[in-house]
Amino acid sequence: MPVAGLRDISKDEFKLFQDYVYKNVGISLADHKITLVQGRLAKRLRALGLNSYREYYDYMIADRSGEEEYQLISAISTNVTQFFRESAQWDFLNEELPNILARKTDKKLRIWSAACSSGEEPYSIAIFLHSHIRDFSQWDINILASDISKRVLAKAQNGVYEEKDMQGVPRALIAQYFTARKDAAGETVYHITDPVKRLITFRMFNLVYDSFHSFYSHFDIIFCRNVMIYFDAQTQQRLISSYHKVLSNRGLLFVGHSESLTRNKEEFKLVKPSIYQKI
Ligand SMILES: C[S@@+](CC[C@H](N)C(=O)[O-])C[C@H]1O[C@@H](n2cnc3c(N)ncnc32)[C@H](O)[C@@H]1O
Repeated sequence: MPVAGLRDISKDEFKLFQDYVYKNVGISLADHKITLVQGRLAKRLRALGLNSYREYYDYMIADRSGEEEYQLISAISTNVTQFFRESAQWDFLNEELPNILARKTDKKLRIWSAACSSGEEPYSIAIFLHSHIRDFSQWDINILASDISKRVLAKAQNGVYEEKDMQGVPRALIAQYFTARKDAAGETVYHITDPVKRLITFRMFNLVYDSFHSFYSHFDIIFCRNVMIYFDAQTQQRLISSYHKVLSNRGLLFVGHSESLTRNKEEFKLVKPSIYQKI
């Protein structure tokens, strides 16, 4: 829907956004997305009372809080996520966990949810491990949950979910790992419980531009799901090579079902659809 008084985005204006998100977020925005981006940003321009996309670009650059960058990223990508997304991957983990645990004689498990959005993915991992490891208290487990967006990380860290977010979580797990409370509007919300929350470390991390140096040979499993689709082939390849460096021997990499590792064949082998193992 065109906004009254708002000019269409020009190719030059669109290029400013393309360059910005490529240089700062790593997201590769194809030329044909111009109409989509215009449509999604129009609402934001209207809310701010701005009449041109150039004005909006300048406004976004001048905003030091990061809020406007968040708005821009949200307009061109999605934070959509859910608990226990991609059920085949959880079935695989269910089968494979005894073998993974048997290899870990130091009883340390390190897992990374590398674009964790509002937290459903790292909490699913934590709940899964807590409910599947019999001698859980003897393990040293840490799940790193990172995202580029401060806003979604705040929600993740808060660990409070609405009824609609809880689809896909079996009742028994809700009873064991969440506390139902009423929010200010009288709606039931679900607070994740401390034993699960304690397993997770939240951190802002840009997968394309931040350094992987501190993670060297560290993780047993990395979840990098439904984010690589936004990066170009070269960026994806570089990111996957970085994952190879920071995964432990025979470490696993889980990607989204529409993502694949076509260019890193010497580093990873496919073990199941969208599940790879470090070679
Ligand atoms: C669709 S969500 C995926 C959430 C979860 N992994 C899943 O599959 O359900 C994509 C997330 O990637 C994050 N993201 C986008 N670009 C990123 C980057 N360069 N570095 C880190 N996170 C990024 C977004 O903020 C968003 O939360």
